Amino acid sequence: MNNIQEFIPQMRPLFGAEEKAELMAYLEEDGFFTEFKKTEAFERQIAEYVGAKHCVVVNNGTVSLTLAAIALGVGPGDEVIVPDYTMIATPNSVKMLGAVPVFVDVEPDTLVMDVKLARAAITPRTKAILLVSANGRAPRAGITAFEDLSRETGIPIIEDAAQSLGSFYSDGRHIGRAGAIASLSFSAPKIISTGQGGALFTDDDTLADKLRRLKDFGRASGGTDIHDSIGFNFKFTELQACVGLAQMRQLPDRISRKKDIWRRYQDGLADVKGIKLFEHDLELCSPWFIDCRAERRDQLVSYLKEHGIGTRTMYPPIHQQKAYSLSGTYEVAESIGRDGLWLPSMIQLQDTQIERVCNAIAAFYCEL
Ligand SMILES: Cc1ncc(COP(=O)(O)O)c(C=O)c1O
Repeated sequence: MNNIQEFIPQMRPLFGAEEKAELMAYLEEDGFFTEFKKTEAFERQIAEYVGAKHCVVVNNGTVSLTLAAIALGVGPGDEVIVPDYTMIATPNSVKMLGAVPVFVDVEPDTLVMDVKLARAAITPRTKAILLVSANGRAPRAGITAFEDLSRETGIPIIEDAAQSLGSFYSDGRHIGRAGAIASLSFSAPKIISTGQGGALFTDDDTLADKLRRLKDFGRASGGTDIHDSIGFNFKFTELQACVGLAQMRQLPDRISRKKDIWRRYQDGLADVKGIKLFEHDLELCSPWFIDCRAERRDQLVSYLKEHGIGTRTMYPPIHQQKAYSLSGTYEVAESIGRDGLWLPSMIQLQDTQIERVCNAIAAFYCEL
């Protein structure tokens, strides 16, 4: 294998002529840059796409979760159930409020929170469940198991759907539509990106109103200096919205390419012992990253790097991160910390590059 070939990154955002045209057109206007009509149009597009009554965009997919928690009444000392396998933003978003994330393990095949463990973790102090649809996957137990739990206990679900734009539950609802509020992220590696950015969606008029006030200093209405509730500044910008509008137009093609990339890896690695992709039901799910379990993962990472291929190790179990340092056993999350790997997953990945990655992986396991 020739290791002077062009480096294949694990991920790169894709912005092009459409984004540039939107931005240039906007710059020709007498704009304030801060959120206004373009942002409203972007919110409408997201709301329509996910089938929600309201969408509120904010400046990232972490504060979005914090605002969702505040809107649902979570405060200092309250417990919020979160998966031990997720991006650390999920628990940190409620730490920001002084709330206490309570970690539970995830299902081994979907990496989504195990509903039985979530039920067992409920205490009188539990104020919300933060359900993360890992890589666009729904819980194996079925989303209705979480909805039943929420109905039975009165504990609201916040869906952290940061990785799930373009993925659906088996009943046809977009992921995020089962919770009281759902959150998306538009950070650089996501299926569509605005550089940084996040969105909240809900059908609930009161929650949507609270979210709008929370992100805009608690203003009673836009443009006034009348504040009847406490709020902050987590607003978007028109420049991000321009990029988002262009990216939303590409979403169907992006989804279809992500699915195609997954199929190509699945075929290319089917006979390679030592590596196994996580399953996706492509009818419903749009894989954001190509996730897999790899034997001798860390050696594989170095080998691929030497051969000009970037990868990213999947999230370590959060309870073991120094930031949390908690005791407890979370078998699935811990196993992902040992063997979970993301392969090159960007939209612009060429078929020949996927072949090159598969061949390099096959060569690594042959050389063992
Ligand atoms: C599951 C999950 N939650 C939250 C976030 C945080 O989003 P942001 O980077 O937009 O703050 C991410 C981003 O990677 C994520 O993957």
